[in-house]
Amino acid sequence: MSYFLSFAFLFVVQIHGAPPEFLQEEFGIDPIELDSIQASNMSDVSTSPPPGTSKRAPQSIIIGVRKGGTRALLEMLDIHPEVAAAATEVHFFDWDENYAKGFEWYRDLMPYSYPNQITIEKTPGYFTSALAPERICAMNSSIKLLLILRDPTERVISDYTQVYFNRLENHKPVQAIENLLVRNGVLNMRYKAIQRSLYDVHIRNWLRHFPLEQIHIVDGDALIQDPLPELQKVENFLNLPPRIVSSNFYFNQTKGFYCIRSDGRERCLHESKGRPHPAVNNSVLQQLRAFLREHNRTFFRLVRRTFNWQ
Ligand code: A3P
Repeated sequence: MSYFLSFAFLFVVQIHGAPPEFLQEEFGIDPIELDSIQASNMSDVSTSPPPGTSKRAPQSIIIGVRKGGTRALLEMLDIHPEVAAAATEVHFFDWDENYAKGFEWYRDLMPYSYPNQITIEKTPGYFTSALAPERICAMNSSIKLLLILRDPTERVISDYTQVYFNRLENHKPVQAIENLLVRNGVLNMRYKAIQRSLYDVHIRNWLRHFPLEQIHIVDGDALIQDPLPELQKVENFLNLPPRIVSSNFYFNQTKGFYCIRSDGRERCLHESKGRPHPAVNNSVLQQLRAFLREHNRTFFRLVRRTFNWQ
C-alpha cells in the first residue's frame, strides 16, 4: 500500500557503502532505483509505527531480472491491500557488504505491515547473483519467488539504454551499442548486458535451491501490453484474494505505457522507465538473437514453458 511506501521517505539521507556513481556504473542502476537504495541506507526517524504493525521478513521476493519490468511489477502489486512493498531495492543477498550486516539489518528495511499482509521486496540483481539463491534459501526455503522476464534481446538493449543515460548524466563518454556487442566480428561475451540475458544459466542456479513450483515467472512483455492478467496470476500464486481490477490501470498515450490508479491517485512510473531504445544495426541484432535463441530453448525446457521471444 502506498501508505507504507511513504514511510520510506521520512528517513534521513545517509549513504553507506559504495558511492552512487559507482553503483550506477558498475551495476547500471538507474537514478530512481538509486534513490531507493539511498533511502534504504537512511536511519528511521519516524516516531511510532501504526498500531498492530511490525516489520517482517519478506514472504515473497521479486528476484529480477534487471530491466525486466521489476519496478512496474512491484508498484502494481502494491495496489493490493494485502501487500506491503519495500520502498527500496535492498541488495541484501547479492552484495556481500550488506549481507555481512546481518538479518536484523535486512528486516529493518522492510515496511511496517499488518499480520494479514505479505511483505515483498524487489532486487533485480538477485537473479544473476551466484550467491543469492543459496542465501535466500537459508533465510526461508519456502519463500515464493517472482521472476519477471522479457525478450532477452530487448533486455540487452534496455540494459544498454539505462547505462547510456547514466553515463551521460555523469558526463562520461558513451559508446555505440554495436561496439559493445561485437568485438572483432564476434559477440562480446564479456559484455555484462549479454551475460545477464542468459536466462538458462541463471535459472539453473536457482533450481539447485528451489523447486520450479516456488518460482513464478511473470511475462514482462505481456505485463507491458496488458498488466491485469499477469497480476491476477501473481495474486493466485501468492494466495492473495483477487483485489487488483482493470480500473487500477489506464493507458497513458504520452508515456506509451499503462499507469496506475489507486487510492484516488493516478501515477506513471518514473521517466527512466520506458525510455526509447536506440536503433541497432540489423546484422548485429540478428547475431545477438541467433546466439540467444539456443539459450532461450534451454531455458524453456528448464522452466517447462515457452515465451514469444523472437
Ligand atoms: P525500458 O525503459 O527499456 O522500456 P526495471 O524496472 O526492471 O528496470 O524494468 C524497466 C522496464 O519496465 C522498462 O524498460 C519498461 O519497458 C518496463 N515496463 C513495464 N511496464 C511498464 C510501465 N507500466 N511503465 C513503464 N515501464 C514499464
